[in-house]
Formats: sequence, C-alpha cells, structure tokens
Amino acid sequence: MSHRKHRLEVLISREEISQVVTRLASEINRDYRGKPLLLIGVLKGAFVFMADLVRQLGLPVEVDFIRLSSYGAARESSGRVKVVQGLKTPVEGRDVLVIEDIVDTGITISFLLDYLRRKKPASLKLCALTDKPSRRQVTVSIDYLGFTVPDKFVVGYGLDFDEKFRYLPDICSMEN
Ligand code: IMP
Repeated sequence: MSHRKHRLEVLISREEISQVVTRLASEINRDYRGKPLLLIGVLKGAFVFMADLVRQLGLPVEVDFIRLSSYGAARESSGRVKVVQGLKTPVEGRDVLVIEDIVDTGITISFLLDYLRRKKPASLKLCALTDKPSRRQVTVSIDYLGFTVPDKFVVGYGLDFDEKFRYLPDICSMEN
C-alpha cells in the first residue's frame, strides 16, 4: 500500500486486531468478574482501541481520559512527560485499568502509572495494544498485551505519525 510520500505496509490486519481485542476483553472480564472498573484511556492514540474494547467488556465500566505530552521530536520520547489534560474522575479506591496504544521506551506509561499510584487506586493495571520491547528504557509490566511489534514506527488504528494515519483500520509500519 502506498500513501503519498510515506510507504506503509500492513503489519497487523483489522481481522487480527479484532480477534486480539476479543481475547483481551475475555481476559479482563475473567479477572474482574463483574467488578466496577474505571478505564483510563491515554489520548489520543488509545481512542480507537478503547472504543472497540469497551464494547466487548461485560462489566459496569466507567471511562475517563488523560492526555500527556513529552517534549522533543515527533518520533522520540524526550523523557520529560507532563499531564496536559487531566482526569475528571476521582481515582482513589477505584479499580483502574489504563488503556494505552503502544509502550515504546516506557517513559510515558511509567510516568502515568506513578502519577496514578499516588492517587491511591484500589488496584492499577495496564492494558496495551502494542509493545515495542526493543526500545525499552524503563521496565514496564504490561498486564494485558495485544501485540509485540518490531522496532519500526507503526501507524493506524489510533496510532499517528504527526497526526496522520490514525484513521487507518489496520496497523501499518512506516517504511520511510
Ligand atoms: P514511550 O514514552 O517512548 O513509551 O512512548 C509512548 C508514546 O509514544 C505512545 O503513547 C505513542 O504516542 C508514541 N509512540 C511511540 N512509538 C510509536 C509508534 O511506533 N507509532 C506511533 N506512536 C508511537
């Protein structure tokens, strides 16, 4: 597939994504057994994944969103993360599941997990659609993982490059 000047290759098809979302939802359903759950989506990348996942959970779920930024070039996490749009829902005493699109260096998600832990949730777990372990700088434990991806920049299904390609239904690698 070609997309203007970026060459995109389908890495994970929409059918594979759909099967994995179903598998993740059944793992989450099994572990929480009907407990009320607060899902926290990390904007913007997790919005497509979270929308699909939430409709497969047979749990009384509430949702909220947080937006984080890290300074630096588009493809690199600079290591300095800040909250640019905070939560509206109190987290204390809640069973919280964070929904993330990709764990790359791990800097963003470990910042967020520390930030949330200080708010004293009853429990705190992480569900990530994709993991790029080859680039990890900070140890992160992912409780529910969709796919491990190679050391390539990936777009689609919510993931962007410079705000482009979020709408693609498949996960594609950018070849240049
Ligand atoms: P980390 O702090 O390096 O783990 O980066 C996490 C964030 O960087 C993700 O939430 C994404 O927004 C972005 N990111 C890292 N790798 C990719 C990628 O391959 N495609 C799209 N976004 C990425």
